[in-house]
Amino acid sequence: TSSSSMSPPPSCSSPTAHFIGKKDDIVKAGRVTKLVNRCRDVLVLYHQGQLHAMDMRCYHAGGALQHGDIEEFNGRLCIVCPWHKYKITLEEGEGLYQAVDDPTTKPLRTYWRSKGIKQRIHKVTEVNGDVYVTLNDSSEAIESDTYQTERFRTGSLTT
Ligand code: FES
Repeated sequence: TSSSSMSPPPSCSSPTAHFIGKKDDIVKAGRVTKLVNRCRDVLVLYHQGQLHAMDMRCYHAGGALQHGDIEEFNGRLCIVCPWHKYKITLEEGEGLYQAVDDPTTKPLRTYWRSKGIKQRIHKVTEVNGDVYVTLNDSSEAIESDTYQTERFRTGSLTT
């Protein structure tokens, strides 16, 4: 395959806040996706009075997070990827999963655990009704970076 030459892009960020849209429009739409700084597909969503931004494609296999439901797990708001139902916290980009305490006890006791930060979260700011995203330029690789190469870019994004 041609994938061997593909590597995640360097953090393509600049310290700049990039204009995404009018807050009113984002609130109305609930979610907006945008190619930010010509290098990163970002999902901006509005939920319960808060704006959030993260890489648009799911860290697991590139699922379209803009079509995911938002639900609370263990008191934490998550986007649920529509592809295989992975849960990602809106605040930190942590992957959550349900683990079983002791498989021999009945009824089974499950609890939530974190796989750590898997999805790159970006900073959203609002100035006079305009919404901006500043890309998270942490040089540490985050799994969702994998799906930010040209190969996964569709070019058919909502603006
Ligand atoms: Fe998101 Fe598999 S691609 S859960």
